[in-house]
Amino acid sequence: MNLTLKNQPLSAIDAELTVLFLTEETLETSEYKELLAKTGFKASQDTFTILHESGLVVCGVENYGSTALRSAAAVVVKKVKGYKYSSLKLSQYYLKNVAALVEGFVMGAYSFEMYKSETCEVSLKEIIFSSDDYNNESADFSAIEKAFNDALITATATNFTRELVNMTPQDMTPEVMAEVAETLATTNGLECDVLDEKALEFENMNAMLAVGRASINKPRLIHLAYKPDNTLKTVSLIGKGLTYDSGGLSLKPAASMVTMKMDKAGACAVLGMMKAVSELKLPIEVHGFIGAAENMVDGSAYKPDDVLTARNGKTIEVRNTDAEGRLVLADVLAYAQDTVTSDFIFDYATLTGACMVALGPYTTGMMGHSNHLKHNILKANAHSGELVGSLPFNDHLKKLIKSEIADVCNIASKPYGGAITAALFLDNFITDEMKSKWMHFDIAGPAYTESPWDVFGHGGTGAGVRMTVKFLESLSEKK
Ligand code: BES
Ligand code: ZN
Ligand code: ZN
Repeated sequence: MNLTLKNQPLSAIDAELTVLFLTEETLETSEYKELLAKTGFKASQDTFTILHESGLVVCGVENYGSTALRSAAAVVVKKVKGYKYSSLKLSQYYLKNVAALVEGFVMGAYSFEMYKSETCEVSLKEIIFSSDDYNNESADFSAIEKAFNDALITATATNFTRELVNMTPQDMTPEVMAEVAETLATTNGLECDVLDEKALEFENMNAMLAVGRASINKPRLIHLAYKPDNTLKTVSLIGKGLTYDSGGLSLKPAASMVTMKMDKAGACAVLGMMKAVSELKLPIEVHGFIGAAENMVDGSAYKPDDVLTARNGKTIEVRNTDAEGRLVLADVLAYAQDTVTSDFIFDYATLTGACMVALGPYTTGMMGHSNHLKHNILKANAHSGELVGSLPFNDHLKKLIKSEIADVCNIASKPYGGAITAALFLDNFITDEMKSKWMHFDIAGPAYTESPWDVFGHGGTGAGVRMTVKFLESLSEKK
């Protein structure tokens, strides 16, 4: 499916269907009011109707804000895919909403079909945006064009992440993830460095190696770099890439293990971010570091009671092998800080079930030391379409990960506040210099869904990609 933008009035564009987004208010003054009344149409959010004779598709929206339009655009594309129409056209709904509409169409149209033996043929081939504005806002075409092109890149990168998350553990092993990164590097002009088990040993990545030890699919550290000519800032992005999380010897119960192919979502998000920033040509040097491993069981498995020495020399008492993501991140965070001097270091991980308990399944948990940085991230994220909430650190929770026999324990001694204690564990692997530049994003909730929400159907959502691109864009605007 192709999305295009034309500097032409809507009436001059040739398409089989025209899309109209109506609020209760604009329905009242619409030329189609009576016709729509006959169908029983009410302009509430996401209600959809198609008038075949008039070649009109109408979708209700609560208001002309980005959240409402993004969701409605996704409804339109999902519904129209079920008919035999090949093209759709629409006008703008204010310049500020161009991106939301593009995202709604591109992300709403996504479906995962890799493992279906029969894929259904979709007739819809083209969605054409006119430069006309439904509400008669006059915007500079070049501004519309930039918003359109940038959103297309970001939404496509988000779908790229979703596709990778959806792949099965037998197909997306750490080695295959490294190959995906290498291919991305070739097509997008990135540098790529992959560390295999031997290199990981040489680099003292013992916590990460312990997690991956019982799998036939050996761990990989992937380092991608985007280095444009003139850079304003340098940013490191770290992803948890557990291609499968069985829990290890602290084995997950059967029902909790299903969907754990999604434990690589942080890594896949970082891959999507690298794709987006290189295509957006942002003036920011961006490094992606991925810790890819499989948490499995065999005779060589790491054990509760083991003490691991991480790359930075800290010792970790393992009390639960299912708290493995933080062990992988410990080493990858240390490696990233040793390798690149950056202005910001962000990590993305499906780290804790506790984060879902705290914030619900749709919201990313943001944790770090700097309130100033949190503020800037939330500001940049305001219209990204992603939900982010901040969870606060405190010294009492920090005491819960003390160990009697090592420097730190990989689980807390009390059950509550698990998302925060996991982040406080990671804090042990952030240097003093980087404390105020580090932010941890727990995407356990929003990274994967088994029931539809927002623009998403079943599967990976690409959580983290749009939010981070927005933040990096905000850095690019500052001189
Ligand atoms: N990958 C899981 C976290 C997770 C759970 C992500 C559900 C998405 C959905 C992580 O490795 C894990 O198992 N965490 C444990 C930590 C506990 C042992 C302290 C958890 O959340 O139960
Ligand atoms: Zn786990
Ligand atoms: Zn995990």
